[in-house]
Amino acid sequence: MLNEEEISLLLTDLIDIYGYDFTGYAKPTLYRRINRLFKLRSFSGFTAFRYLLIHNPEYLDWFIAEITVPVTEMFRDPSFFLTLRNEVLPVLNNCPLIRIWHAGCSTGEEAYSLAIILKELQLLQKSVVYATDINPKVLKVAAAGIYQQDTMKHYTENYMHAGGIANFSDYYTAHYDLVKLDDQLKKRIVFSTHNLAADTSFNNFQLIICRNVLIYFNQELQQRVFTLFDNSLETNGFLGLGSKETLQFTRLNHYYQKLNQKEKIWQKR
Ligand SMILES: C[S@@+](CC[C@H](N)C(=O)[O-])C[C@H]1O[C@@H](n2cnc3c(N)ncnc32)[C@H](O)[C@@H]1O
Repeated sequence: MLNEEEISLLLTDLIDIYGYDFTGYAKPTLYRRINRLFKLRSFSGFTAFRYLLIHNPEYLDWFIAEITVPVTEMFRDPSFFLTLRNEVLPVLNNCPLIRIWHAGCSTGEEAYSLAIILKELQLLQKSVVYATDINPKVLKVAAAGIYQQDTMKHYTENYMHAGGIANFSDYYTAHYDLVKLDDQLKKRIVFSTHNLAADTSFNNFQLIICRNVLIYFNQELQQRVFTLFDNSLETNGFLGLGSKETLQFTRLNHYYQKLNQKEKIWQKR
């Protein structure tokens, strides 16, 4: 096991050398993940681990992916997407251009899910989805839009529970064990890096979706990100969070109205 001082040295290296600041991440999860990586490779000691992290870019990429948890799926929590389809996006129909920020998009499955719903509501052409993540590696996968064929059965079920009105297989073509999503879907998605712990806002949005990212942050960093979202969201705009995340105990709570009891979606007053 690495001790607190060693982990803090690693975190300082990551800031000094690569500009990645993980000091605002929730300690128990972060420390557990770093210790797991340390144990996985049977390093001779902390110095060997630190050396590899500093000198091997491939190991660094892998390390970053492991501690930032890029797990995702299409139409994750289908009822969230059903609510977007039925209660949120129709309201935005009045905007001449719908600007959506999908923060912490990982390998892009959620952004494509949103594009499918926008297409089915005939809103895709007048929407722009900025899908961002701290990790450039996952964004490459997102931009390619190529996924494992064996995930499609589950995604088809999610799509149907999310109110899908077409045949889900019309949105991809299969090649052996991979599928490629229809290129038309990504025409209105801009994938780019953005670090919620360090970067500022870059636009005004009518909808911000950031799910299953804030759970990994400590309270201070969560507050920073909520303020960033608030500064980036227009009045009457919507904020969608993950099932274990909430605005309830934050300073913003008074200025936002929860859309319904079940879904983690708030509207800015
Ligand atoms: C568990 S995934 C969630 C993906 C997707 N939103 C979902 O709910 O399925 C968390 C994502 O947050 C990203 N992330 C972690 N820290 C971040 C930061 N400081 N800024 C932007 N993205 C971050 C990770 O790279 C990862 O892709």
